[in-house]
Amino acid sequence: MNAALISLGSVSSKWTFEAMQKYFESVDDIDLRELEVDLGGKKHVVLHNGKKMKDYDCVYIKGSFRYIQILNAVASSVFEKAYTPIEPKGFTIGHDKMLTHLALQRENIPMPETYISASPAGAKQLLEKLSYPIVLKFPSGTQGKGVMFADSYLSAASILDAFSALNQPVIIQRYVETGGKDIRVIVVGDKVAAAMERQAVEGEKRANIHAGGKGQKVTLDYKSKELAIKTAKAIGAEVCAVDLLKGKDGTMVIEVNLSPGLQGITDATGINVAEKIAEYLYESAKKFHGENAQLSEKIAKAAGLSDSAKTIVTKVQLNRSRIVLPEIITEISGLRKDDEILVSAEKNCIVVSRSKEVKDKKD
Ligand SMILES: Nc1ncnc2c1ncn2[C@@H]1O[C@H](COP(=O)(O)OP(=O)(O)O)[C@@H](O)[C@H]1O
Ligand SMILES: [Mg+2]
Repeated sequence: MNAALISLGSVSSKWTFEAMQKYFESVDDIDLRELEVDLGGKKHVVLHNGKKMKDYDCVYIKGSFRYIQILNAVASSVFEKAYTPIEPKGFTIGHDKMLTHLALQRENIPMPETYISASPAGAKQLLEKLSYPIVLKFPSGTQGKGVMFADSYLSAASILDAFSALNQPVIIQRYVETGGKDIRVIVVGDKVAAAMERQAVEGEKRANIHAGGKGQKVTLDYKSKELAIKTAKAIGAEVCAVDLLKGKDGTMVIEVNLSPGLQGITDATGINVAEKIAEYLYESAKKFHGENAQLSEKIAKAAGLSDSAKTIVTKVQLNRSRIVLPEIITEISGLRKDDEILVSAEKNCIVVSRSKEVKDKKD
């Protein structure tokens, strides 16, 4: 199997690339800045230095919030044919803290009270009602750089003025007292690959390693693990980092990072995170292509509507949390729009059948 790592060439990406080379027969190291997406035809085409990019079995795409559109477009172009650990929309959601919080709320994932305001005037009214301290954030900041703390209405209002002078949207969030600690969790598939507790340096509230925070290995309780895994799922990323705060009201999620730095967590935990990611990509790509091959074989059979082909293997596709089934299933089922159906669901199983009354009438 062949793979490509598309990234901005950080040290963490280099480690991931080297680890991927141990699993895949060949791996191309592609700079995101050398890609263009041609949206002219019926399908998007990804161009690498002006030429059509090769087809790969697995494409791992990483980048920063500055590249949201191209990340999303590249992922949209390749995700049907290649295994990609992050869904196209995951890039848009995961690189924007506002959209992340919306996605988390939809899944009932605990987070600090968070407010988004359409105008500085609206935000100021909000500031009058809050108890202090509070946190103000750039929706797309990373490494702690876009996070500010205000101890009073007056300091919050002056930070807000600076945001509006810059024409910047702002997230306002309740401050969670943790003694300057947070937890960085790396989720890989359905598992936590590594977790560290970070402690901010004296006089600093941000626990980011880039802000001087120190990390040490931590063993997560079951609930925190589940929370991190559920968060990754909510934003459509099989590989990502999730930041947690443990305050007096329990564990809360503050953000997701689709392209986390690996040095700090590897040092703190002694776990070779790049290796875990590479192994997961390889196993998932194998599964993806196995399933896809099986799928096309079954679809081919099912298209003839032979008796033996009533089952197909496919992936769960969700649209706004609703399951969408392949068209061939509609065809095989013979169900028509507005047919009355009975739906029963239990864990891992759904049965849909035409309700008996209607069935009898039609038969
Ligand atoms: N609501 C909050 N309460 C307390 N501390 C916070 C809060 N939000 C962020 N922090 C601190 O600031 C750091 C950076 O915030 P985060 O939202 O993760 O943004 P970034 O993308 O810059 O890492 C966190 O790791 C945490 O230490
Ligand atoms: Mg963070």
